[in-house]
Amino acid sequence: MVKLIGYKKKKTAIFISGAGSNLKSLIKFSKKKKSPISINFIVSDNPKAKGLMLAKKNKIKKKVFNFKKIHKIENQILAVLKKHEIELICLAGFMKILSKNFITKFKGIILNIHPSLLPKYKGLNTHKRALNNNEKYSGCTVHFVNSKLDSGRIILQKKVKISKNETKDSLAKKVLVQEHRLYPKAIIKVFNL
Ligand code: GAR
Repeated sequence: MVKLIGYKKKKTAIFISGAGSNLKSLIKFSKKKKSPISINFIVSDNPKAKGLMLAKKNKIKKKVFNFKKIHKIENQILAVLKKHEIELICLAGFMKILSKNFITKFKGIILNIHPSLLPKYKGLNTHKRALNNNEKYSGCTVHFVNSKLDSGRIILQKKVKISKNETKDSLAKKVLVQEHRLYPKAIIKVFNL
């Protein structure tokens, strides 16, 4: 898809809101010699996001922005990303919607991971909705971000079987394990290594 020229790793910012388990798996992945990315910045909308602790531990710069005032701050975020020469944004459990303006103005690539088999179950409460509809399978999707929620071009998906006594929590856990594998694979696919 997007050819990586030479061996220079793409400078990447990860956007998070909570636990940061996808962030953790991406940090691990980025440290591999063959990984096409380095993680240079972490953005959070939530000052209490547990994932922020990974920034200090891994010596990655971080900044919390108040996304309630998104129109006022998006130029600030873009400026910070530019300063750090960020070429790729990975949304990883980021629960805010980026504005069309932000998406257009950011000149790099933006990816997202979503806990459903898109185009099914865009938005929130994906596991609960999949169970309520008696789905036999759920899963996760990595896709390019465009200005429509969870609607950009799909890069990779992983299916997960829903068991008989599945709860939304057990399904979330099962899907999360697959998310941690899928995001690195999707990044490799994007950079066509
Ligand atoms: C993940 O399941 C991710 O796919 C989902 O939130 C969880 C965050 O986990 N994201 C969304 O629902 C985005 N709309 P993490 O913070 O441990 O990576």
